[in-house]
Amino acid sequence: MKHLLSINDLSKSDAISILDTAQELARVSDGPMKKLPTLRGRTIVNLFAEDSTRTRISFEAAAKRLSADVINFSAKGSSISKGESLKDTAQTLQAMGADAVIIRHGASGAAQRLADSQWMSGSVINAGDGTHEHPSQALLDAFTIRKHLSKGGSDLSGLRVAIVGDVLHSRVARSNVLLLSMLGAQVVLVAPPTLLPVGVESWPCEISYDLDDVISTVDAVMMLRIQLERMNELFFPNAREYSRYFGLNSDRIRTLKQSAIVMHPGPMNRGLEITADAADGARSVIVEQVANGVSIRMAILYLLLAGSQEIGAAL
Ligand code: NCD
Repeated sequence: MKHLLSINDLSKSDAISILDTAQELARVSDGPMKKLPTLRGRTIVNLFAEDSTRTRISFEAAAKRLSADVINFSAKGSSISKGESLKDTAQTLQAMGADAVIIRHGASGAAQRLADSQWMSGSVINAGDGTHEHPSQALLDAFTIRKHLSKGGSDLSGLRVAIVGDVLHSRVARSNVLLLSMLGAQVVLVAPPTLLPVGVESWPCEISYDLDDVISTVDAVMMLRIQLERMNELFFPNAREYSRYFGLNSDRIRTLKQSAIVMHPGPMNRGLEITADAADGARSVIVEQVANGVSIRMAILYLLLAGSQEIGAAL
C-alpha cells in the first residue's frame, strides 16, 4: 500500500495489521527509549491547510519517534494563504524530496487529488479532507475500543457503538462507520434528521433519532463536535434544545452499561454535545484517544514507508 486516503483503501486484514502494529509500537512509547531508527533519513511533510491540534502534533510526534525529519507546513504563514494551488504546493514538496505528505484540507477529495497527480511521487496520508474522511482518526478509535472492550479477538465483533451528533459535517463519523462495521461492530448513528447526510440509509449502520433509546444498548458512545464553522444555516433550534436531546450528561452516563466507554475525537464543545462531568468522568477515554493516536500514526507511517522491513527487527 502506498497511500492512505480512505478506509475503503484497506481490507479487514490491513486494518487489523495496523492495529496490531500500533499495539507493538505503543510498547516503545511506554518504554524509556521513545525513539526508533526506522525512518532515519526520510522526510515527512505535515501539510495542514485547515486548523488542527491533535492530528498535527500526533503525526509529528509519530514521525519523530520513528526518527524521520519532519517539516510542518500550515496554511497560515505559507503561500496557501496567498492562494497558491495544490499543484504548485505539491511540486515544491517534491522538489524538497518529501517521502510522505500528510494532508489536511477543507476540500473533500484533496488528498485523492494529490495522490492521483503526477506532481509528487511520495506517499499521501489523508488527515481529514472536508466532510469526507479521516482514516487515521477511525483507526485510533478502533484501537481504543479494541483495547478496552474486545474479548480477546482481533476484531470488534459482538460490540455495539453509537456515534452521536453532527454526522452531516463529520469525516470522523464517515470513516468510523466504514471501519468499525468492517471490523464486525454494529454501528448506530444518533442525530436529528437535519444533521444526517443525504444517502445515509445506504451506509453500513443503523440510524436512530433518539439517544435515550440507544444509550443503554451500546458498549461505546462516540460524541461528535457540532461543527459550527461548517454551518451556514440553522440545523437545530438552539443549543439548549440540542443538549437536551442529543448531549451526553451525567444522567445519561448513569444509563450506560457498566463497561461502556465515552469517546470524543476533540476538540470538544463542552456544555453543548458533552458536559464537563461526562467528558472528565470515569467512563471517559478521551485523553487516552490522543495518546493512542500517536501509536496508530506510527504504525501507518511504518507500514507505508518502511516497506517489508520486519517490525521485530526495528524494535
Ligand atoms: C476532528 C476533525 O478535524 O475532523 N478532529 C480531530 O481530528 N481530532 C473532528 C472535529 O473537528 O470535530
